[in-house]
Amino acid sequence: MNLTLECKRSLNRILSRVDLSKLSKNDSKIFHERLTQHFPRLFELLVTVYNERYDMHYQLEQLVQQLADSFKARPAAQKKKDKQRLNNPHWHQSEDMLGMACYVDLIAEDLADLQTKIPYFKDLGITYLHLMPLYKSPEGDSDGGYAVSDYRCVNPKLGTVQELNNLAKALDKAGISLVLDFVFNHTSDEHEWALKARAGDEDFAEYYYLFEDKSIVDEYEKTLREIFPQVRRGSFTYLEDSKKWVWTTFNSFQWDLNYSNPTVFTAIVGEMLFLANLGCDALRLDALAFIWKEMGTTCENQPKAHKLIQAFNACLQIAAPAVVFKSEAIVHPDEVVKYIAPEECQLSYNPLTMALIWNSLATRKTRLITQSLSHRFAINPDCTWVNYARCHDDIGWTFDDGDAGILGINGYDHRLFLNKFFTGQFEGSYATGMGFQFNPENGDCRVCGSLASLAGLEQALEQQDPHLLEMSIGRILLIHSILLSIGGIPLLYAGDELGMLNDYSFLQDDHKKHDSRWVNRPAISNEDVVLAHTPGTVQNRINQGIRHLIKIRKTHPVLGRAKTQVIHTGSDHLFGYQRTHENGDKLLVLCNFSENEQTAHASVFEHLLPASQAYDLINDEIITFDFNLGKTLTAYQVSWLYVKAQ
Ligand code: GLC
Ligand code: GLC
Repeated sequence: MNLTLECKRSLNRILSRVDLSKLSKNDSKIFHERLTQHFPRLFELLVTVYNERYDMHYQLEQLVQQLADSFKARPAAQKKKDKQRLNNPHWHQSEDMLGMACYVDLIAEDLADLQTKIPYFKDLGITYLHLMPLYKSPEGDSDGGYAVSDYRCVNPKLGTVQELNNLAKALDKAGISLVLDFVFNHTSDEHEWALKARAGDEDFAEYYYLFEDKSIVDEYEKTLREIFPQVRRGSFTYLEDSKKWVWTTFNSFQWDLNYSNPTVFTAIVGEMLFLANLGCDALRLDALAFIWKEMGTTCENQPKAHKLIQAFNACLQIAAPAVVFKSEAIVHPDEVVKYIAPEECQLSYNPLTMALIWNSLATRKTRLITQSLSHRFAINPDCTWVNYARCHDDIGWTFDDGDAGILGINGYDHRLFLNKFFTGQFEGSYATGMGFQFNPENGDCRVCGSLASLAGLEQALEQQDPHLLEMSIGRILLIHSILLSIGGIPLLYAGDELGMLNDYSFLQDDHKKHDSRWVNRPAISNEDVVLAHTPGTVQNRINQGIRHLIKIRKTHPVLGRAKTQVIHTGSDHLFGYQRTHENGDKLLVLCNFSENEQTAHASVFEHLLPASQAYDLINDEIITFDFNLGKTLTAYQVSWLYVKAQ
């Protein structure tokens, strides 16, 4: 097949049929330019995925019409941003970037009230705000909003689309990028499409995976991983009324969309561009690993999932290029990186670094983080990691068993240890966490808890033990120091900057008590903020410590768009890396993951040569290299040693 020729023909035919008359002259020019640039890629991707579909060419035409209509609807301010961002594609790599994730109603009353928090965000230095899903969703359990009933409607408890628009404008004015969720693997069972499918509409039935024949379900189940085994075994839900099985990877009320049907792709592009036009800067691609199903496989990370995400990306480049994608692939590290590319997802959560930070905190050893990140941290230089220590979800131990094996660590056993450690079942553990989704079949389990509680603060406060307290504060600051310096956007979970502990109130709520992730989603009150601003409190020490690091980050480009190289420190307890900016500035980071003094080998200084001195950014002092002694760090101490380019 001569793709280029076919592609040209296809585009010409489509252009002769779609209605672009509503576009202004200037918009029409821009649209044509972008279409000419990106259509070949889009065409090739969709041909690969949908070649066997009888209606593929009709769908392509519908798609281009959709792109034109969405572009037409794009507000002028967003179009202006499109231009700016195309000229500054590395905006997300600036040292100024600092992210925060929060639930609207756990930090404010509603969307309107959230505007009053903007000064707080600004004061902390936030430039990227991820608001957890705020769309219309079922009453009661909605998986924290991840069961969407209408992408174009804001949850009435939080406000209206107009209020979201106003907030987006206010954030933009404050220099804060808005990140919204693009929940495109599934809809809620109350979405109009699902309701129609349920009522017997054949077209809409094809939007989902509905099976009458249980043997097909059984065949798929043979190779599927169970995501929420404590909620329900398997990945399908039986619908009594229609006597069918529906694919539900997550909760029974979250119906997986059927992307083998190109109508679904086109429809979801429309929803995606609606969100883009609200004025967001990034879309978080929720559960993107699951969107393509192929019998006999795990139905995760399938090659065609990548093709589809790239196709979504191409659509965005045509109709809303200011917006970038953030990948939420919490999977094996080999698979995580496959989603990261300028043509796929420009941003990605970094679940490996996250898991390995906690691993080092539990073991006090840095061999696994050093071994893994030395060959896994580098990604496409135009793309950016989003570094986090925990999010609204559970923590899973997504390191590679091969990396562990090289060090003589058995991955399976080690995960069991980590689960015990962080749920406080391991003797001597300082962590207070809860287990999540224990699978009786394979012993698998994940961990929930607030950053401070997992790092030992809850236990220290309970026991009123000054030593434990010091150690937990040390761990909390150490975690943040890595997020803020290793390279990428640091993403704080709201409340962690205030040292907030686990919140057990979910156990009293019938809609939440089965989902222990709520333990790490505390509501933040004004009192919490006041406490953290009151000198002498533990919370204040944490808050001040984090703010100090943020300030340093923002004033040193070497903490922004710069290369990261993981180094060997000569100590099993010290983790180290070097950052190098293209202007020649260098930064050496050393972190002590143990409660005892540890010494890095003098060879670490070689990374900073030819200088003989470095500026210790955290302690605000000059240090002179001592090649006889190396560098000694106290319990949980972190050093940021900076050498300015000559
Ligand atoms: C993502 C979300 C998680 C949710 C799941 C299903 O992993 O982070 O909270 O349960 O997707 O939407
Ligand atoms: C699984 C999924 C991940 C999701 C999580 C929710 O780990 O891989 O996408 O965030 O479950 O608990």
